[in-house]
Amino acid sequence: MNKIRSYIKGVGHNVPDRVVTNDELSKLMNTTDQWIVERTGIKERRFADEGVGPSDLAIPAVEDALQDANLIKNDIDLIIFATVSSDYYIPGSGCILQHKMDFGNIGAFDIKTSCAGFIYGISMADQYIKSGTFDNILLVCSEVQSTTMDFSDRGRNTAVIFGDGAGAIVLSSTTEDRGILSTHLHSDGKNVKELWLKEPSTKSSNRLSKESIERGDHFLSMNGREVFRHAVKRFPETINESLEFNGLTSEDIDLLVPHQANLRISDMIQKKMGLPDNKVFNNIQKYGNTTAASIPICLSEAKKKGRINNNDLVLCAAFGAGFLWGSTIIKW
Ligand code: UT7
Repeated sequence: MNKIRSYIKGVGHNVPDRVVTNDELSKLMNTTDQWIVERTGIKERRFADEGVGPSDLAIPAVEDALQDANLIKNDIDLIIFATVSSDYYIPGSGCILQHKMDFGNIGAFDIKTSCAGFIYGISMADQYIKSGTFDNILLVCSEVQSTTMDFSDRGRNTAVIFGDGAGAIVLSSTTEDRGILSTHLHSDGKNVKELWLKEPSTKSSNRLSKESIERGDHFLSMNGREVFRHAVKRFPETINESLEFNGLTSEDIDLLVPHQANLRISDMIQKKMGLPDNKVFNNIQKYGNTTAASIPICLSEAKKKGRINNNDLVLCAAFGAGFLWGSTIIKW
């Protein structure tokens, strides 16, 4: 009997309606459309309305993915919710989504693996399916980062980059020759402070002090140059390890989907791999960096645009806070 493998049976996404242009941001802080486009490639991003959390943004993305998979809610065995911006500090957004969408009492949990959320999530879901534990797993990646931004000059290097959005996949079992070929995960926690949101912290009984708010510790902050330096090293490293592991070369890849961190980073990776434009998918221009959601949003758009077809080899790679990074190759 052929062994059980996992494959992406359905993919969907949802972004908030509210478009925020670079010009709009330049009214809040000392920045310009030209600087943002030249340094990041971003032209606009989406921000969720007040009161909308990642579990809310996820609902249309999940409905889209279920429809694409031709499955109903009852078919889903487990929800994995990747986010660093969960609706509440406690509990996770996975169980909030379970209730809001009226899934049965299936398992639901969050993973907090920053921009590598999709890679870590698919790796975990793949193991559950290969072991025969579950048949259909919903991996949801959803973020509301706009409320963690410092829109003053102090936060301008970070605030211009991030956006809100949600992507979801249904990972299902198959005995066909397709699906997740491998996943590769890495971390280096010595870089915690290069990209972090420090407060509120459980290390202090005074969860949010006046002083920490004045310092802006409750905003996401990033040492952009340092993150960039590591990203351009780790992306090619993990891409190469996934290619080598599967005995493939970059020429075998039909589509590269890099986490949307910065268009300059994506362009560097593309150049290093020697890939033509039609073999790389970027949408950071429209959505900014949506953290865990960026890869599944790309996959959903790419599929809808006919850029991914059955049997295509799709390579996804991510790098983000932690640092955490990793890659996967999927035979669609
Ligand atoms: O998804 C998680 C992983 N995240 C990433 O991979 C992001 C990686 N980092 C980056 O994408 C880039 O480092 C940034 C886009 C964040 C910044 O670009 P950069 O080319 O590294 O700029 P920089 O931080 O070296 O700053 C260059 C100059 C500085 O001014 P001085 O010191 O040269 O006078 C900054 O103060 O640009 C200034 N600057 C800005 N100017 C206008 C920083 N942010 C802005 C801004 N508008 N928004």
